[in-house]
Amino acid sequence: MPAATRRTALAAGLSLLTGVACAASTPSLEALASRHRLVFGAAIEPGDVEADPDFARLVRSQCGLIVAENALKWMALRPSPDRFDFDAADRVAAIARVQGARLHGHCLVWHEAMPDWLRRDLRPDNAERLLIEHIETVVRRYAGTAVSWDVVNEAVERNDGRPDGLRVSPWLRALGPAYLETAFRAAHAADPAARLVLNDYGLEYDDETWMVEKRGTMLDLLRGLVRRRVPIHALGVQGHLIGHRAPAYGRGLTEFLRAVAGLGLEIHVSELDVDDQKVAGTAAVRDRIVAEHYARFLETMLHDPAVSRVVTWGLSDRYTSKTFLSPRADGAPVRPLPFDADLAPKPAARALAGVIAGRRA
Ligand code: XIL
Repeated sequence: MPAATRRTALAAGLSLLTGVACAASTPSLEALASRHRLVFGAAIEPGDVEADPDFARLVRSQCGLIVAENALKWMALRPSPDRFDFDAADRVAAIARVQGARLHGHCLVWHEAMPDWLRRDLRPDNAERLLIEHIETVVRRYAGTAVSWDVVNEAVERNDGRPDGLRVSPWLRALGPAYLETAFRAAHAADPAARLVLNDYGLEYDDETWMVEKRGTMLDLLRGLVRRRVPIHALGVQGHLIGHRAPAYGRGLTEFLRAVAGLGLEIHVSELDVDDQKVAGTAAVRDRIVAEHYARFLETMLHDPAVSRVVTWGLSDRYTSKTFLSPRADGAPVRPLPFDADLAPKPAARALAGVIAGRRA
């Protein structure tokens, strides 16, 4: 985006969100997004929305899409091999329904959040049955509610040393690289209308060699899946950004997005937040730096017409897993999200609104 357009866009975002103290009257990022070929959403934990009416109002006013931050992972759904526990997941689905938001399912296959019994019992002779049964049961249950699924999460890990760059996860160990195709086909069979996503991190920065290389590996993987007509519809770029790095979201990222779009895939920003664990300064200074990352990253991402969705990983600093995953040494609360712990919009919310407003309608 040219600098002048960007200034206008940021000013528009500023005027949209400045001076709004009360969450209920904050103009909606979803309403803005929907006018610019985008869906805006956030990941939530059901308990936070249920116990906190002000937060529920903020989510309702801002989000056209809701993602279960943890409730649809195996760890939450599968207390034992023969049991499904849909309590938390059903509550997230109910919240989406009540709020009139779409639901996105996260995630059907991941090397983390695996229950102990699964890690222990997964073998070549039972893995395919376990995988298909899980995907069929879960995807069918939310068919008509969940518009999309992260079918496989974080499948690429070049450090694991395979020539194809695939992560040597318990699923890969049991089933080989075919587990990806098996998972996508099972999800598609269970709900042919759902959009199916491969989701990953470490694709964002141009100045990090391993990420630049990971883009190449990801493209090869996507090309293979598309060539074999595996039902995959989108790539999720997580967007866990790092506040103390340079915002190097430049030409390399642009070219990567073009290449992904060239395969006929959509692109989602799927888990956006900015880690301010190591950003020095007052809250106001940190908020400006965090907002700059939101702005610069989204300028590059939203410039590509294939990007159809922006999801933040949480919505307010009141509820963010960064609090325990990435705490600050000085003990100050982390501030990674668009709304602060009082649910008021931060510069990051204005940056988001500004870049969205500047996108071609
Ligand atoms: C995180 C959740 O936010 C935490 O609450 C949980 O303890 C661990 O998982 N990439 C992903 C997400 O795909 O599922 C992760 O979510 C964050 C990194």
